[in-house]
Amino acid sequence: MTRPNVFVTRRIPEAALRPLLEECDVEIWPEQTPPPYETLLEKVRGRDGILTLLTDRVDAHLMDTAGPQLRVVSQYAVGVDNIDVAAATERCIVVGHTPGVLTETTADLAFALLMAAARRLVEGADYVRQGRWVTWDPLLLLGQDVHGATLGIVGMGRIGRAVARRATGFEMQVLYYNRSPVDPDLVGPNAEQVDLETLLRESDFVSIHVPLTPETRHLIDDDALARMKPTAVLINTARGPVVDTDALYRALKERKIAYAALDVTDPEPLPADHPLLSLPNVIVVPHIGSASVATRTRMGEMAVANLLAALAGKRPPNPVNPEVFERKCRP
Ligand code: DGY
Repeated sequence: MTRPNVFVTRRIPEAALRPLLEECDVEIWPEQTPPPYETLLEKVRGRDGILTLLTDRVDAHLMDTAGPQLRVVSQYAVGVDNIDVAAATERCIVVGHTPGVLTETTADLAFALLMAAARRLVEGADYVRQGRWVTWDPLLLLGQDVHGATLGIVGMGRIGRAVARRATGFEMQVLYYNRSPVDPDLVGPNAEQVDLETLLRESDFVSIHVPLTPETRHLIDDDALARMKPTAVLINTARGPVVDTDALYRALKERKIAYAALDVTDPEPLPADHPLLSLPNVIVVPHIGSASVATRTRMGEMAVANLLAALAGKRPPNPVNPEVFERKCRP
């Protein structure tokens, strides 16, 4: 019996890959940077499955180039905005992803960024390294209190709720904006659903947790930033394009808001000479929300489990488009 043929677009934790290597013929892209789109087109030709990352554009053309035998695109991430899921569904290609497992780890980072911005940790660390620490100074690096402040959560899904849980320990008041109502049992007693305008107006910290969709692209634009407090801190661990980068640069430079702490940017990666990085009131880290050893390994195990199930013609544990199975569009 021929083994399924799979392309993996980057190295992922080895332990997770083992079952895939046992059951399939696998080629793994060996470089640190993603395969360019044209190379990816060549690499996917004739494959039965692809294990992708959020840096890979997986569109209809790529699926057609792969060929009609392509059964599954398994994403090593929860977000799938790089994949044309509708095109995959039309072609009976299952898309899998890794929800849940990275919730707490990403929420940890969102809260770490919140605290780092509030208490100006990066500026403080740089200050010491630069040899500028000469005395205890009553006016040095004054930041903001986290405890007792108001946290606005934009998008009260799994990660938003995990951030809200952390806020409880700091006795923060939580306001959240979500397109649909959220089951009150899922949110703490200190959390109140409000419209976006109220959230932006009243929050000391605004943390973004919506997926990137046509509706959420540039949700945080000039207008939204102008509604925030001049002391407000913006945290983004979701997707870069949810925030209009040029508008954010203007708002930070003109001190319309106090600080931004970003795990995700637009563009991504953010070039070292980007104007945003010339500002003292911004912290940028390189999209490491889910980057703990345990979580990245577990994400790999889930992505591999999705891939192997779909290759065996079974419903994967975490499909994005389960309708492919409901329709039974393959023999
Ligand atoms: C995701 O899963 O979508 C994150 O951005 C990467 O872990």
